[in-house]
Parts: sequence; C-alpha cells; structure tokens
Amino acid sequence: MVSTTTIPPARHVRGRIRVPGDKSISHRYAMIAALAQGPSRLANYAPGADCHSTLACLRSLGVSITEDGTTVTVMGRGLGRLGSPSGQLDAGNSGTTMRLMAGVLAAHPFTTTMTGDESLSRRPMRRVIEPLGRMGCRIDSTEGHPPLVIHGTALTPITFDASTPSAQVKSAILLAGLHTEGTTTVVEPAQTRDHTEHAFTAFGGTVRVEDGGRRVSIDGPQQLQGQQLTVPGDFSSAAFWMVAAAARPGSRVEIEDVGLNPSRIALIDVLRRVGARVHVDTQHGAAGEPRGTVIVEGDRIGRVDISPEEVPGLIDELPAIAALAGHGAEVSVRGAAELRVKETDRIAALVAGLRALGIAADERPDGFVAGEAGRSTVGAGPADARGDHRMAMAFAIAALAGQSPSTIVGADSVVISYPGFFDTLGRLVG
Ligand code: S3P
Repeated sequence: MVSTTTIPPARHVRGRIRVPGDKSISHRYAMIAALAQGPSRLANYAPGADCHSTLACLRSLGVSITEDGTTVTVMGRGLGRLGSPSGQLDAGNSGTTMRLMAGVLAAHPFTTTMTGDESLSRRPMRRVIEPLGRMGCRIDSTEGHPPLVIHGTALTPITFDASTPSAQVKSAILLAGLHTEGTTTVVEPAQTRDHTEHAFTAFGGTVRVEDGGRRVSIDGPQQLQGQQLTVPGDFSSAAFWMVAAAARPGSRVEIEDVGLNPSRIALIDVLRRVGARVHVDTQHGAAGEPRGTVIVEGDRIGRVDISPEEVPGLIDELPAIAALAGHGAEVSVRGAAELRVKETDRIAALVAGLRALGIAADERPDGFVAGEAGRSTVGAGPADARGDHRMAMAFAIAALAGQSPSTIVGADSVVISYPGFFDTLGRLVG
C-alpha cells in the first residue's frame, strides 16, 4: 500500500542537526572493505535501504559483516576473493549497488545474476555493460536493463572515454581495474564525485588523477588493507534542509559534521546566488573527505538559473533546488537530461508534483522551469513521489510554503536514503 503524508505549512525552519552518513561513500567503503585484507570498521554508515542492499549483496558473496547501530564491521576477503553466490544478488532500488558491483564482479571468475526492484529494472545499464565488455567481461541483460548476468573473468585494461559524466560508471571501471594487470584509465567530459579515488587511497591503494580530476588511472592489481573510517554526513540529504532554510526568511539551520567534498557542494554557491546567507566551516576530514558545519540563513529569494556545466556537481540536489519554486523563486534547469533515468523520470515527476501543489512548472527535454517570482505553493496535492526518495523530500520542502496543508503520496520512499527525514522535519519547523 502506498502511504499518504500530510505536510502543514511552516513559517520557518530553525535548529541544529546532523544528517545520516553519506550514501555514496558508504557504498564504496563497504565494497572496498570487502576486497581489502583484514577487518574494517565503518562508523556512521548510511542507514538507508540502498546501502543495506550493498551489504546484502556482499553477504551473498561470502563476506562476513556485523552491524551495531550505524557502525558496520566488514571482514575483508582480499582482492578477487569474493565467493560465488548461491542465488541472485538483489540491488533493490540502488543503481550505485548494481553498477559498482558489476565492476567488482566482472573480475571474479564466476557468473552472478543481479536483480533490482521495478524502478531499478527500468534503468539503463549499457553504460557499464559496454566498458566492462571491452575489458573482457560478457554481461547479459534485457535490452540494456536488469537483471544483469555477469560472466566474470580475468580482464584486460582499457582507456575509456566516457561520453556522459557518471561517477557510477567511472567507479565500476576503476573497481574492475583494481583487479586487472596493467593501467586502466577513465576520461570524463566533466569531473564527477571522486569518492572512489579517495577510498582507494584511504585503504592503502594508489590512483593517478590528472586534468582537474577528469582523467583517473589505476595500476592493478592492488592489494588493499582494512581500515577504521567514519563516514561524513550526506551533503545530498543536508541539501533539503539547506534549501528549506534558504527559502523561509527568519530561518537558521546549522548542519554539523556534513561531508564537504568539493565535487559535491555546488549547491552552496547556488543558494548564495539566490539570496541566502551560507556560512561554511570546513574541518580537515580523514580519508580525503573534508567535513564540517554548514549554516544557512534565509532571506527573500529570487531567480535561479542552473546551466548545463553546473549539472554534474548538482545532479542529486536538483530536486531540492526545484523545491525553491514553491517559495516564490523562478527555477530554470538546463542540461539535466540524466534526471530522466534516475530512480524515476525526475523531470516528469517534479513537474507533475509541483503542479499538484499549485506551482507553475513545465518540462523541457533536458530540464524544467518552475515557479513564478513572488508566488508560493498553494497547497493541497497530492504530489506523487513515484517511489523516489528525493521526490518525496523535495515535495515536502516545497509544501512548507503552502497556504494550507499538502499531501504527498509515497513519502515512505525516504527510507532509501534518509529514514529519519520526517522526524527531523517535525523538529525543525516552526
Ligand atoms: C552516484 C552517482 C550519481 C548520483 C547517484 C550516486 C554515486 O549517479 O546521481 O545518486 O554514488 O556514484 P551517476 O553516476 O549516474 O551520475
């Protein structure tokens, strides 16, 4: 049964919070810990369903993993030593699990079938099938969609020129390259999040990063060592509170211990452009991942124009940015066709959901325009999250500006990345 959640209007959001551990970093630490030698202790591991799909897949491959709250201990099996699974691996809703694990499994000499839920079964996988195929691994699919049947084998290194920037594709190839004799290189048209590169280094490996992060090489094989690491808070989860605070005058939200990797924080500049006061106090994080405190204070907001060049650094924050349209901002996004192949078609879902809340919105092939200067959310709904966690959170933030309460259908999808989202919302609103 699909749940319905009611969001009352809010004058402002105020408070000091922490957000759950970073989803992208958690996936990578768990997988790399499984490939390393010896135990790894991963603190503040992401509590959402996606990162638990990664743990479930690793357990099916013979990795012993224990959990104590959000601390996860992984007993590494060593490079190339995952065990052949007895059944299928279920990646659930998680594209990162499926694509990164495909890179790992391509280098293991057995056949694995990876499945996913209805949403993941619609998502494009040729982007990993093709480069891993060039390395020598045959992957069967249904016209480029899951399930994937991965026929792992000894691989040959490649230099891969990606046509679209994607950290998942880059990471799948680098994880395959970790196991492969010789130099594997990925070249991207724009830099994407570099957590895999930092994670390899944190576990004792080496990668070569050139051309402003757009060219990354790994000399394989490399034997990594288990580590004790703490995952920083997820900036993409913090993004919803940052937007809420920016959009409601009189708001002040302080987010502690959030990841501030430069490849992830383009939203800060967007919110400053729109009129918010954003204060960032960066502390030196461990493992190449800076972290710190972000304070956002709201004011009157204006127009937001997101250009195609900004999109790779904002890809997961675009739903939060769309929510500004509910608070009297005009939002225009171009060059973001990738949004159509996320957990749902996020362009269509955002436009339909915003309209349901009484906000003007129109699709573009590669983006959307939403909102009118000075005109706020009317309220009511229902806005349908279409099973997509970031749609649910974006509609909740847009609904805060309503003249009456709004309803969201399918808001329970927040469990994918942020199980405590609505509890925190309840604490922050005033
Ligand atoms: C992710 C990369 C991005 C992002 C996704 C997480 C990752 O996807 O949207 O939520 O952890 O590498 P793409 O690689 O498809 O751009």
